[in-house]
Amino acid sequence: SLVTGKKILDKALSGHYAIGAFNVHNMETVQAVVNVAIEERAPLIIQTSASTIKYAGAKFLAANVKAAAEDADIPIALHLDHATTYQQVVECIRVGYTSVMIDGSKLPYDENVALTKKVVELAHYAGVSVEAELGKVGGTEDDISVDEREATFTVPEEAVKFIEDTGVDYLAVAIGTAHGVYKGEPKLDFERLKKIRSMVNVPLVLHGASGVPDEGLRNAVVCGINKINLATDLKIPMARTIRDIFMANPDEDDPRKYLGAARDAVEVVVRDKIRVIGCNGKA
Ligand code: 13P
Ligand code: ZN
Ligand code: NA
Repeated sequence: SLVTGKKILDKALSGHYAIGAFNVHNMETVQAVVNVAIEERAPLIIQTSASTIKYAGAKFLAANVKAAAEDADIPIALHLDHATTYQQVVECIRVGYTSVMIDGSKLPYDENVALTKKVVELAHYAGVSVEAELGKVGGTEDDISVDEREATFTVPEEAVKFIEDTGVDYLAVAIGTAHGVYKGEPKLDFERLKKIRSMVNVPLVLHGASGVPDEGLRNAVVCGINKINLATDLKIPMARTIRDIFMANPDEDDPRKYLGAARDAVEVVVRDKIRVIGCNGKA
């Protein structure tokens, strides 16, 4: 069933585990993540970026997730990922999203607080939970880019103040991950994460988890992460599968064949990630 992100993440916080939050783009990816989460008994966060909403429409995405969640005996939250405007939040709340991220991380502190606070007020009135970001996660997520040199780590003391100032339900922290693939191995600042964890009482979110080795993901959970965002690691096998089908058979014209195979490929990686993160059996 469809529940708020807060309901899922507060339980993860008190149980010291993390939930996989998977970015989806269409019916097949919604079905892939929900099918696997049901089989693995894993609570699930399904998220769509603002540009995916531009592509598919919030209403269509919400309808897909609601249809999948209706028959699912696990908690599922539908989350808006990296919204940068109040209007994007309004649009998603209107069609039934149960969680939203307002990403004011590129703004000066006071403006980030003001925007986040405004979103928290609206969302809480509507019974929807809110994620915000402090510090800047590097890399590119759809049409949002942060130069690696401009990425800045979250300052623990500032995180405490930000949560007090905004009333946000969970916080995305910048500890060395980046959106998309990595050139080398990412170096995560686990000491900083532990310090933040010891000072704040809300669930913490790790962005840019694709390309982080399994051990790094497990350590992030041990050090206090409760939501792990994965996008690129699902997109790559999906594209590769479709590409392989057309390489082998350029005349393939049955969408059920190539999109069905893509759905199977996404299921494989989602199952693997859920088991690495360790949220299987938590629903
Ligand atoms: P990756 O594409 O690196 O998995 O990042 C996903 C993300 O942070 C979505 O918000
Ligand atoms: Zn992100
Ligand atoms: Na990444």
